[in-house]
Amino acid sequence: MTEEWRAILGKAIWAASGDNAQPWSVNILSEDRVVVHLATEKQNVYNLVPIPDWISLGMFIENMSLATAGLGKRIDTEMIDDYQIQVDLVPENDLVINPISKFIESRSVNRLSYKRDQIAAQTKHKLAALFDEDMELHWFDTDKKRFQIARAIMRSTDLRLRMEETYQIHKNMLDWENAQSHDGLPIESIGLSAFSAKSLKWLLANERRNNRVMKLPGATIFTQIELDLIPAMLCGAHFIASFKPDMRPHPQAVDYVRAGRAMQRFWLTLTQEHLCMQPWYIVFMFSLYVERGMFFTTQHDRAQKLYKHFTQQITAPENISVNHMFFTGRVGVPNKNPKGRSLRKPLDSFIIDDGL
Ligand SMILES: Cc1cc2nc3c(=O)[nH]c(=O)nc-3n(C[C@H](O)[C@H](O)[C@H](O)COP(=O)(O)O)c2cc1C
Repeated sequence: MTEEWRAILGKAIWAASGDNAQPWSVNILSEDRVVVHLATEKQNVYNLVPIPDWISLGMFIENMSLATAGLGKRIDTEMIDDYQIQVDLVPENDLVINPISKFIESRSVNRLSYKRDQIAAQTKHKLAALFDEDMELHWFDTDKKRFQIARAIMRSTDLRLRMEETYQIHKNMLDWENAQSHDGLPIESIGLSAFSAKSLKWLLANERRNNRVMKLPGATIFTQIELDLIPAMLCGAHFIASFKPDMRPHPQAVDYVRAGRAMQRFWLTLTQEHLCMQPWYIVFMFSLYVERGMFFTTQHDRAQKLYKHFTQQITAPENISVNHMFFTGRVGVPNKNPKGRSLRKPLDSFIIDDGL
């Protein structure tokens, strides 16, 4: 690998990905061409429709673009198919280095509660300008809306903890040993109290025990309060990012990759503004499955109720179509940084064929 590719890809891998799965690999074809692939074998019940992966791929590509500008070049991209994108390095004079590129490595999800300070109109304006013209941002910051969103996230947690389809995913993604985890989520980054973390460890150690306990009424209530209700009420605002249906009636992979690039600019700009973010993506994905008639869990009734709650109370009143959404989350001024954070696997582990 050339030093130039090492510098660019070393930044790219700091893109976010669902459960820190890091679903990319890179084929280096020449000094100025690579193909970035999405790993399709990483599919699970959280990405049955690959929108989260396309978003991550877009974040990866945006990091490449920001890093390349620092080397006096730009990138040209072309989707080969839904899972591969070709990236060419092109010399370019007079490039301005975007100051948000300074935050590529320090940007990190914050799952704790934030200050309730509203997001200033000026900041919202600056954030909206980071999106392409076929995209829009919707903000939710009244107490009533925060509570309705909190209830939706709580329903999604109740559903996913009770779903037998998620046991292995949760068991594999949590890192109990390392506060800085290269390929998982450190338990310290989740926002659980010591007691809840211990109970979760005990449950996940045995699948039959976990499934038995998760059938009990009220089994998930403490987790819902700690992980969902408190953080969802204690933040600056919630947001939904979506395509404008009149301009982009049927978004494709290439559009979601563009959306991922915009989301990376959004998240880096938040970091620059000393704000933080946590996605609440599962509400969106599970609602999308129900909207599209996909049967993804035996807990079908709970999934239907989540969908009804989300669409009737949150999306329909704002005229947002679930089929056009691409990101959901909350932002705010952090109270403190989490003790643990996810790191990344070594750069060389992403390179599948280093022809150089
Ligand atoms: C498409 C997407 C969906 C995500 N969904 C969630 C989510 O629902 N809840 C959450 O706490 N974090 C979510 N995350 C954040 C990732 O877990 C996090 O970015 C990843 O573990 C890497 O950690 P870092 O952002 O601190 O580098 C999501 C990230 C992406 C890109």
